[in-house]
Amino acid sequence: MGEPARKVEQNPLQGEQHSAFTADVLEGLSGTPKQIPPKYFYDEAGSALFERITDLPEYYPTRSEMRILRRHAADIARLVPPGAALIEFGSGSSKKARVLLRGKPALSAYVPVDICGEMIEREAAELRADFPQLKVLPVTADISKPFDIPAVAAAAPVRVGFFPGSTIGNFEPHEAASFLRNAAQILGRGAVLIVGVDLIKSTEVLHAAYNDSAGITAAFNLNLLKRINRDLGGTFRLETFEHHAFYNRERNRIEMHLASLKRQKVRVAGQTIDFRAGETIHTENSYKYSVASLGALARGVGWLPVASWTDSRKYFSIQVFNLASDRRAAEGLAGP
Ligand code: AVJ
Repeated sequence: MGEPARKVEQNPLQGEQHSAFTADVLEGLSGTPKQIPPKYFYDEAGSALFERITDLPEYYPTRSEMRILRRHAADIARLVPPGAALIEFGSGSSKKARVLLRGKPALSAYVPVDICGEMIEREAAELRADFPQLKVLPVTADISKPFDIPAVAAAAPVRVGFFPGSTIGNFEPHEAASFLRNAAQILGRGAVLIVGVDLIKSTEVLHAAYNDSAGITAAFNLNLLKRINRDLGGTFRLETFEHHAFYNRERNRIEMHLASLKRQKVRVAGQTIDFRAGETIHTENSYKYSVASLGALARGVGWLPVASWTDSRKYFSIQVFNLASDRRAAEGLAGP
């Protein structure tokens, strides 16, 4: 409890973002089943908790992806046309971009795009110090919506998209397809897209990655309720909700939920939300793909697979696509 008004000032959401958050949360909690989009995990505390997740022994994706990137940084750099602007979707800490940059691609600019503005502004300052010749032009935006890129990046001869971390797995497959179509539009003619995707694997390995013994993933999930309390005047009592994560085999996805331990009422943004005992808020899907299934999805919206790499355990993949420039593919891009 305490001083919600003061806390709002410490972590102001801009007007537009604040009302989207309010609308999405109220809509998601009014429906059945209850759900909240995972992009709202990433306030400052949530982004910091996610960084801790990436260091957990059970959470293999970040380490696996970093290994692939380190191993193939030079191969990837060779697929980046000279003078390209690198645009990273959901850049977070930019750790992976750093690995790519060490492969020395000839870039005209690096544009990290992330919903967490505090995080990318801070990281941009460090990147500028570490790569003084590189133009670093951060953009705070929700990558699931169209956004403008800086003029320098728009004027570059070609743009390379970078979408690591299996963030694409947070989208429903049809949303992933529209994301890829939107990315084609933003990046334009001759574009290259580098995507990092978590692969389908044993349930045990997947389960452990989202149910770590230190409870950091649980804290990350529950932080969403803390954020709602702070930003939307919520009255969630965190000790009455529990982290649930399991692999849904039929749909190739990890599901995360917050389960109410009892029947209760909660106030959010002036509304009352009823929970049955055991009722959950579905807070995240993390879809897993095969190299072939993501390739097929991308191909369907005009991206042609040009290269892919996996780690030795085949836990994770980096896949590179080129924008098909022939007319039939371009027509595919104009689809729904
Ligand atoms: C950032 C979406 C890739 O799905 O593995 C980690 C987020 N959620 N632990 C994932 C997450 C719980 C993560 N992504």
